[in-house]
Amino acid sequence: MNVVEKAASPLEALARKKRKKDKIKTGDAKARKSKPQSFDIDFERLDRLGHFNPSNLASPLAMELRAVKRRLLRRLGFLRAAGDRQAYRMPGRQRNLVLVTSTQAGEGKTFCAVNLALSLALEDLVDTVLIDADIPRPKVRARFGLDRGAGLTDCLTEQIPWRSLAHRAKDGPLTILGEGHSRERTAELFAGEACQQLLTEISTANREGLVFIDAPPALAMTDAAVLAKYVDEVIFVVEANETPEPAIAAALDELLDVNPNVSLVLNRCLIGATGSSYSSYDYYGRSEEDGAEKPAEKE
Ligand SMILES: Nc1ncnc2c1ncn2[C@@H]1O[C@H](COP(=O)(O)OP(=O)(O)OP(=O)(O)O)[C@@H](O)[C@H]1O
Ligand SMILES: [Mg+2]
Repeated sequence: MNVVEKAASPLEALARKKRKKDKIKTGDAKARKSKPQSFDIDFERLDRLGHFNPSNLASPLAMELRAVKRRLLRRLGFLRAAGDRQAYRMPGRQRNLVLVTSTQAGEGKTFCAVNLALSLALEDLVDTVLIDADIPRPKVRARFGLDRGAGLTDCLTEQIPWRSLAHRAKDGPLTILGEGHSRERTAELFAGEACQQLLTEISTANREGLVFIDAPPALAMTDAAVLAKYVDEVIFVVEANETPEPAIAAALDELLDVNPNVSLVLNRCLIGATGSSYSSYDYYGRSEEDGAEKPAEKE
């Protein structure tokens, strides 16, 4: 390297740095301006997969979801008075963040999260955001026939505004944020301040509505317990006659350690001729003697 080249190289490095910084800035600005991509809900597909269909509000599933929603909304402090919905919130918390998890894989977490989100958005016209935080087995976008792409983990690693990566349904107030590209060290990623900030931002942006987080199973990885710290309510899906009791107890113990507001949804519980999917939604918590918070409200 000659003298001129030597002198130029730090300048080039500086210029490279500046170009990179400018690129990030422009990217950010573009992303900040951009809105969620809109999509048409593929009802035929959802119907085939056995999901909630707003054109069949008399179905057993729609009725069971109504019972689950009613209890969930009450527990979150959303009350109906003279047709109005009023939310009672604690300072700094919107009381609208709901995590869906279970003991192990395949017990119906995504089924439950997608159905609750669909039914709240399309039947009750409640603004609903559904986030896929099951990074190893993301399934939310696939249920809606949406392509994979950037999502939650990119918001956390690249500070990309969440709205620019979200999908907004044309058919109702439903927004979906998929999992994202990065698949590594998710527990660390979720434990970071950026995750708490992002969830607060989404929850605040949707203060009159609900935000569901589809999480991985609680026993398989720590992600669910990490995320449970930030939410107002944990829905714990139990597969009737399948989930082993000791596993349920172990998973609940983990969750209750970080969040006392855990409710159970019994999935695939076949009762009578209707083939009920969700038979119960009960508060499961430690007794007051254990120092756990009581649920906000109970039916
Ligand atoms: N009550 C139900 N009625 C009909 N199908 C159901 C029901 N619950 C779950 N399923 C179906 O069972 C399969 C597994 O459910 P789902 O994907 O929701 O489980 P999961 O707990 O999210 O699994 P994973 O841990 O792999 O993400 C899916 O095909 C889902 O549509
Ligand atoms: Mg799932």
